[in-house]
Amino acid sequence: MSEIKRFGVSLPSDLLDKFDELIEKKGYKNRSKAIADIIREQLVRTSWESGKEDMVGIITMIYDHHTSNVVTELLEIQHNVETGMYSMMHIHLDHHNCLEILALKGSPVEIKKFADKLGSVRGVKHTGLIMADHKI
Ligand code: NI
Repeated sequence: MSEIKRFGVSLPSDLLDKFDELIEKKGYKNRSKAIADIIREQLVRTSWESGKEDMVGIITMIYDHHTSNVVTELLEIQHNVETGMYSMMHIHLDHHNCLEILALKGSPVEIKKFADKLGSVRGVKHTGLIMADHKI
């Protein structure tokens, strides 16, 4: 962990009140950790937008495995992924629905393309992408 530095911040009082209310609801014990998390979130977003370095992405996907060809199509896409696939978890949620969680590392552009491709398959009801940066 790097050295901790203190700095002063000037904010309109109503904005600070709203911020304190928000972080209390989220369970933060102090402003420092909440501010650090907001800064990190912005840095991660910027890293993903710049697309220059490898990022970590977690894709969630829910699909009805009874839809014809959905399993074959998803497998075909996953076998041709152009980023590193770290791990894949498959959960049979109920009679119809499957949940898959995929952890990838690679070009953010390719990870987004991959998530979009999975989401476009007939039978896939929902996809989500958590964008992370392991270097921040
Ligand atoms: Ni299943």
